[in-house]
Amino acid sequence: MPGSDMIEMAIEAMERAYAPYSRFRVGAVLRGANGRLYAGCNVENAAYPQGICAEVAAIAAMVADGERRIVEVAVMGEGETLITPCGGCRQHLREFSAETVPVHLCDPAGVRRTVTMGQLLPFAFGPDNLRPDHDDGG
Ligand code: THU
Repeated sequence: MPGSDMIEMAIEAMERAYAPYSRFRVGAVLRGANGRLYAGCNVENAAYPQGICAEVAAIAAMVADGERRIVEVAVMGEGETLITPCGGCRQHLREFSAETVPVHLCDPAGVRRTVTMGQLLPFAFGPDNLRPDHDDGG
């Protein structure tokens, strides 16, 4: 189970989402291998395809801070239907996550379900395909 710090941060991020077009607010929090938490929210745009997802915003914050390894993910959304990362976000997350990384699918009441990165994106094409010996060194 994720710590309450992760859940609270994801709720805060979701509440700050800029989603005037879809009205669907999403928050994402990543725990880096360094133990720090990185939050992101979706940021939509009047030119619709330019909007970015919460997961991508959180990844950008993590990488800008110098961290490149994700050890835990929380995605926060509202509504009846379980929130899951979109296909593009699964690929973005996979770039920095092993297939064993837990992904908590949450609503403001807490975790509804936890899956692994490998379950979300089986047989992923990832960094190992191009850089078998990579060490996260850039
Ligand atoms: N959204 C995310 O931020 N993450 C996801 O994984 C699913 C979708 C956002 C994108 C858009 O701003 C809104 O949710 C509706 O698709």
